[in-house]
Amino acid sequence: GEILHFVADPAKVAEEASYQYFEDGLLVIKDGLVDAVGNASDLLASLPDTIDVSRYENGLIMPGFIDTHVHYPQTEMIASYGEQLLEWLENYTFPEEKQFADIEHGKRVAEFFLTQLLDAGTTTALVFGTVHKESVDAFFTIAQQKKLRMICGKVLMNQNCPDDLKDTTESGYADSKALIEKWHNTDRLQYAVTPRFAPTCSTEQLNKAGELLKEYPDVYLHTHLSENKNEIAWVSELFPDSDGYLDVYDKSSLLGRRSVFAHGVHLHDHECQRLSDTNSAVAFCPTSNLFLGSGCFNLQQAEAFDVNVGLGTDIGAGTSFSMLTTLNEGYKTQQLRGNKLSPFKSFYLATLGGAIALDLEGTIGNFVKGAEADFIVLDYNATPLMAKRIARCKNLTEKLFVLSMLGDDRHVKATHIMGEKI
Ligand code: GUN
Ligand code: FE
Repeated sequence: GEILHFVADPAKVAEEASYQYFEDGLLVIKDGLVDAVGNASDLLASLPDTIDVSRYENGLIMPGFIDTHVHYPQTEMIASYGEQLLEWLENYTFPEEKQFADIEHGKRVAEFFLTQLLDAGTTTALVFGTVHKESVDAFFTIAQQKKLRMICGKVLMNQNCPDDLKDTTESGYADSKALIEKWHNTDRLQYAVTPRFAPTCSTEQLNKAGELLKEYPDVYLHTHLSENKNEIAWVSELFPDSDGYLDVYDKSSLLGRRSVFAHGVHLHDHECQRLSDTNSAVAFCPTSNLFLGSGCFNLQQAEAFDVNVGLGTDIGAGTSFSMLTTLNEGYKTQQLRGNKLSPFKSFYLATLGGAIALDLEGTIGNFVKGAEADFIVLDYNATPLMAKRIARCKNLTEKLFVLSMLGDDRHVKATHIMGEKI
């Protein structure tokens, strides 16, 4: 079938140089890893005829989608009505998260969440747990059974939230450390130190998170940043000695190559410069930003400062598990800003861009030799409207655009994990 993958950011090189596309392509997999990708006619000749060949007609094979910001415990509260960020947290989110003290509840939700992700074609995600360490044990247990590459962490929060959702600086540190020792780099699982966001963490707790990053230099840092105007004003009241929101995290040494900040809707130029200088990443979460009325992410500003950007669903403030639907709304947020988001850039963000944001280039996100063979097949004929509209497309650019406007989980025909169809 058709194969597409990216080798560079289309905003940084000539667009045609950013991807490889094979109209009649072959993806060769050996022991769960990519062995080769190319034209079927060229590659088949060089392979023994004992190999198994699967064919996918009328579709597009591409790397699995990478969701760089999502909350698994918020799966069942998706589409909660009427609020913006701070009220939404108080009225819906915190009550929902209390249930995750029970590991069995966590496992049930993790099972459903991961099934939804895989059905939507997402094969790797950077995932929030809750304050309970059990929520992360539950998540990793299920992700490990499914042989997935997943990153998760226990939420750190010791202030400005309900008492039964508070940890302490010391317990948060100790629980995180125990989870790192237990899970980090076990199979394809990795840990993210996860302070919820500045308002729910004392300076001492943020500093302790920074200490964990020093002790374990290859774990991730995952938090929220500059999502909502009221949130930003609150941060400047709570942290009067800081020079803005990002600086609160910077003062605790939380920026770096494996740090991912969700949203960044209202960033100053100097903050983008600092994110870029430290090689930190931002997760662009359009369905969430629209749903909570947070604003439209300034992708051009992030590009101008060469900030790593991935795409996130931010379930349950986001409204779809589908990265195709997320690209649809992402395009529209950029239209509102007068920025024409190219379909190549869109699919780059959903795959290789996410891998780079997570410091996993070469491991996932494209089909370079040795990459893990987590890939999906998009089906042009899954729905009558898609089939009709694709038939009118004159080139790959148009096909990708139509996929990103009309596509959703119905168009994900197959998801493969380490080569195996699931
Ligand atoms: N900021 C702090 N917590 C959250 C959360 O759970 N969701 C979103 N969207 N923003 C947050
Ligand atoms: Fe979030």
